[in-house]
Amino acid sequence: MVDLHTHILPGIDDGSVSFEESIKMCSMAYQDGIRTIVATPHIGKFPNTKEIIFQKTKELKEQLVTKGIIIELVCGADYEFTPEIFALIDNKAALTINNSRYILLDTPYSLLPPNIENIVGVLVEKGVIPIVTHPERCLQVQGNLGMLYGLIRAGALIQVTASSITGKMGSKAEECATKILKNNLAHIIATDTHGIDKRPPVLSESVGIASSIIGKEMAQAMVTTIPQAIIEDKVASIPEPKKPR
Ligand SMILES: [Fe+2]
Repeated sequence: MVDLHTHILPGIDDGSVSFEESIKMCSMAYQDGIRTIVATPHIGKFPNTKEIIFQKTKELKEQLVTKGIIIELVCGADYEFTPEIFALIDNKAALTINNSRYILLDTPYSLLPPNIENIVGVLVEKGVIPIVTHPERCLQVQGNLGMLYGLIRAGALIQVTASSITGKMGSKAEECATKILKNNLAHIIATDTHGIDKRPPVLSESVGIASSIIGKEMAQAMVTTIPQAIIEDKVASIPEPKKPR
């Protein structure tokens, strides 16, 4: 499996606090069947740069080799939804996932930007495909799932959090994640792990639950072929979204 959204690099955001914890996280992920991890530290909320992220990734990779943990680690970032993202893309300065056309955009917990569909449209015109992260945890989306249908139609992909599907993020996030899955309004399941205790790097339990909602084939695709296509900068094959009623 591939975990497309993680805060696994130590000491540069609100995720892992040390190399020791990062190694434990990678080990847990490996035990769960994860073989590729995309390190996506916050940029914006924390003063990270491409260089800092590349350097930390290199250091963690070296430690993984030393410890004999066979995980492929690739780079990305978790960007805020702000207008600065356009300038970064125009200047080819954005840290996309593994240097692909795909970029992670962090969904706020209360309100989405009022013009979010336009933002997605402009990004797509610029050749960048935004992956909107964990909308099931956003109050506004919980009350209006139709927004996601519009975002997908505008060209976005949607990522749900493993621990929302398993109910560990509360009943509202769980209920919303279930509805999102039922309506084909999500394409990737990722852990968004922040540590061995805070959203641990485990996908299998959520994939089991998702299988009972959308079938095994699609649930598996959300942690294998779809995130793999993203890492390889290919067009991900996604199901037709349903307009929620
Ligand atoms: Fe994140």
